[in-house]
Amino acid sequence: MLLLANALRNNGQREPCGGRAMDLRTTYLGLDLKNPVVASASPLSSTLDGIRRLEDAGAAAVVLFSLFEEQLLHGLGALDTYLNLRGGATSEIFDLFPQDSEFHADPEQYLELIRNAREATSIPIIGSLNGVSTGDWLAYAIHMEHAGASAIELNLYYVPTDIELSGLSTEWMYLDALNDVAQRVTIPVSVKLSPFFSSLPYMANSMYKSGASGLVLFNRFYQPDLDIEGLEIKPKVYFSRSEDLTLPLRWVSLMYGRVPVDFAVSGGVHTYRDVIKAVMSGAKVAMMAAELLTNGVQRISEILNEIQNWMDVHEYDSIQKMCGFMSERYAVSPEAFERASYARALLAYRNSARQEQDQP
Ligand SMILES: Cc1cc2nc3c(=O)[nH]c(=O)nc-3n(C[C@H](O)[C@H](O)[C@H](O)COP(=O)(O)O)c2cc1C
Repeated sequence: MLLLANALRNNGQREPCGGRAMDLRTTYLGLDLKNPVVASASPLSSTLDGIRRLEDAGAAAVVLFSLFEEQLLHGLGALDTYLNLRGGATSEIFDLFPQDSEFHADPEQYLELIRNAREATSIPIIGSLNGVSTGDWLAYAIHMEHAGASAIELNLYYVPTDIELSGLSTEWMYLDALNDVAQRVTIPVSVKLSPFFSSLPYMANSMYKSGASGLVLFNRFYQPDLDIEGLEIKPKVYFSRSEDLTLPLRWVSLMYGRVPVDFAVSGGVHTYRDVIKAVMSGAKVAMMAAELLTNGVQRISEILNEIQNWMDVHEYDSIQKMCGFMSERYAVSPEAFERASYARALLAYRNSARQEQDQP
């Protein structure tokens, strides 16, 4: 595969860049982007100032923080429907959910933010909906479109706990919700997926067939910790590290060229090398949250400069031409390749452990 990548690189498609500005432009969900770095959903996009700062730092697009199904149903007075859908759960589950004032903007403020951001910036603004049921709350996607959102990212966050609910039923729930949104809007819809499917490629392709133009790999789950003295469950956000990138990289590179959607990598993008890896695996864009929250939004401009330098040194002139260079698109048997890679990784570990033992 590496040989193939080199062949592609040297196949007259490129020439030495000699200090010229590299072409960082890409497309995502049919949108023209100036570079592949997108600010993913986080509190950084919760104000107009925050969105402006992301644009000034060089973000090619911004995904707004999510509006949650529960928040929207609350506004629609449709809690009973929701509770019935959730197997007759009591309204206590709504008491558990953070109230509007503590938790993000209310839905009308969210639309106002889209309108203002659309006017004040020149980059695409992507609205985000987080939920899993079909129903009236999804009509909110239409309001987002009318407010000026360039696309909708659907974050299907659902943790199945019912021991009678099969994986298939859960998957149908996801596809129904997606289908519902995709039929309501004319702007592109992407889905932020979890890695926990028994056949991720099948699910990804089903998402495509149900109207997804893009897939964001992956949603990050915030597994709570246990406080064993206080006997409490402690919800906590654990920031990613670059090491976490290997999971989305692997799946994008397996599905690139097979599932006809635009891929975005989310989870573990912290450096320019991470962005380049994401692109080479087959992603159109690399999304960032934790790095920007930790080290500031100016990290985007630093990373963009570093990408330019790297491309210059390695004689690449266009990000688009790099997309999928290291994917498994051309692997004859990806399954066999995966098993062989696993075995090789174990062997490499054993060999290095043996060498350490043999050292005096
Ligand atoms: C504080 C915080 C808030 C987030 N809020 C949202 C959200 O509202 N909607 C969403 O889809 N993802 C949300 N995310 C997830 C990020 O968009 C991203 O997918 C995840 O953090 C992995 O990317 P990273 O490794 O760059 O942080 C949030 C992440 C953090 C750290």
